[in-house]
Amino acid sequence: MCGIFAYTGKKSAEEVLLDGLESLEYRGYDSAGIYIPEAGVIKTPGAVSELREKIPANFKGHSGIAHLRWATHGEPNEKNAHPHSGCTDDIWIVHNGIIENFKELKEKLEKAGHTFKTDTDTEVLAHLIEYHLQKERDFEKSVLAALNEVRGTYGIAVQYKEKPEMLIAARMGSPLVLGIGEDERFIASDASPILPHTKKVVFLEDGEVAIITPMEHKILKLDATQVKRAPEEIEWNAEKAQKNGYEHFMLKEIMEAQEVIKNTLRGRLIADKGMAKLGGLESVAKKLEDIERIIIVACGTAYYAALVGEYMLEEYAGIPVEVELGSEFRYRSPVLNQRTALIGISQSGETLDTLEAIREGKRRGALTLGIVNTVGSTIARETDAGVYNHAGPEIGVASTKAFISQLTALALFTIFFGRQRHMSKETGREIADALLELPEKIRSILERNERIKELAEKYANYRDFLFIGRKYNYPISFEGALKLKEVSYVHAEGCGAGEMKHGPIAMIDENFPTIAIATQDSVYEKMKSNIEEIKARKGPIIAVVNDGDTEIPKLVDDVMFVPKTLEMLSPILNVIPLQLFAYYFARKKGLNVDRPRNLAKSVTVE
Ligand code: G6P
Repeated sequence: MCGIFAYTGKKSAEEVLLDGLESLEYRGYDSAGIYIPEAGVIKTPGAVSELREKIPANFKGHSGIAHLRWATHGEPNEKNAHPHSGCTDDIWIVHNGIIENFKELKEKLEKAGHTFKTDTDTEVLAHLIEYHLQKERDFEKSVLAALNEVRGTYGIAVQYKEKPEMLIAARMGSPLVLGIGEDERFIASDASPILPHTKKVVFLEDGEVAIITPMEHKILKLDATQVKRAPEEIEWNAEKAQKNGYEHFMLKEIMEAQEVIKNTLRGRLIADKGMAKLGGLESVAKKLEDIERIIIVACGTAYYAALVGEYMLEEYAGIPVEVELGSEFRYRSPVLNQRTALIGISQSGETLDTLEAIREGKRRGALTLGIVNTVGSTIARETDAGVYNHAGPEIGVASTKAFISQLTALALFTIFFGRQRHMSKETGREIADALLELPEKIRSILERNERIKELAEKYANYRDFLFIGRKYNYPISFEGALKLKEVSYVHAEGCGAGEMKHGPIAMIDENFPTIAIATQDSVYEKMKSNIEEIKARKGPIIAVVNDGDTEIPKLVDDVMFVPKTLEMLSPILNVIPLQLFAYYFARKKGLNVDRPRNLAKSVTVE
């Protein structure tokens, strides 16, 4: 949540900073701001394009700090946009995270004569540094003294007007990368804005403070002792995401599903042997043989992928699996041991709740694994082992292609764990073959997207939707509903089809459509009965059915056809019409599909 970018060197800071902020826009777009000591500060509600428009030709300098905000404390207006300063406008700060004890610090500072201009927790930190600067007369010592008083999470970059070439950055719970160029240095929330300039980076750890000038940097702990860390070279390239002619990233990313599956599978299936080769798990393969229980932690869409994974792994690998929301797991007292594998699933690799759940699992002795899309992200670095999705950058805030890739990776995990245990070569081969057939089947769904568009437009005036599914498609009912509410702001509820009669069916009438995922699998007959129950209450029904099904189409108002596949892989196909339905529904309403209100792509606050 919130993106930070800071620069010091010889280039035009305003250009470097604005370009860099653009690649961080997935982290928030409520407001944006930039401070350049030689030029001043400019802030605006909205995203980088709005900020660009406000910048006059003479706004120039060689260092500066910039920020994109996802609001936590205070409305997303210009006043609350970062950077924030103290009373004298000498100290400026950009911050990602939450200062938990900001109220008590604010009271103390107000008593000392400080007056506050905004409703943010961040401003308190600017005043606190200023307060110490007035006593210490030393920038570095003042930042350290202030950080030793705050509780909470932060990734910060601070500048002092008197020392324009210097940046001070610090990390506690929010990611921060230091980029090392030739006579220039960068600080950013992730490596993407740094990569066009240099591949040499240092990933700061929690409790570390970097003192930076264009030619050098040093890293300190909060007690001022120095940390020695050699920079790393990152191998990946700055992939600048383009819409490639599509109106929105969301549609482009749904349309990438075939490629995504191929990329997730590439080099990882030995189909004739019915095996999965997961290089990222090799270092812990021996330990995984002794694993007796798996816990999967995730948030949002990744959580629904995890629920499908639970069905896959229990049915085919015979290992007990539990799935937990990161935000719940970390606050209870989970019972784990060395024979527990804790898998974190995260597109961004930065979701704080998932990360903290993984850390909690590690503290309690579990072996931690990751299924992560963003290379070099915190979860990827902190887990003991894992696999990358290789889905490419996902820009649309509503996750689509990453979900497809997460399900594919979970199928690979299922073959891997299953073959380590009792899964036969034949079964492994059957899953592998079915996986390899998916891209072609996806093509046939995507080719029929006009029909889904017509349906979305037909139903665009309804305000409530129920999504139902069973077994492997039970989690898909939740994911289908989540997609629709994320981008369209209508009420949509997922529900196990069997559970419907215990409450949700009370809502059904002719104004409350149901989307039923009813492909021909082991629970097909049961789904048919549930559809009949809704029909009897006059609820309109759209069903996702298999090509060639002649029964359900007769019962329902509308259908979305998908090809048949192995039951455990059916969620991968069935979710695609639901993603397209949500997309076209929101588009018909003229909403900002790629940037739904109030949401952010990467949530690094609790
Ligand atoms: C946010 C996004 C969701 C995403 C969730 C988990 O809420 O808006 O689309 O599913 O975070 O994100 P992660 O990066 O951990 O998969």
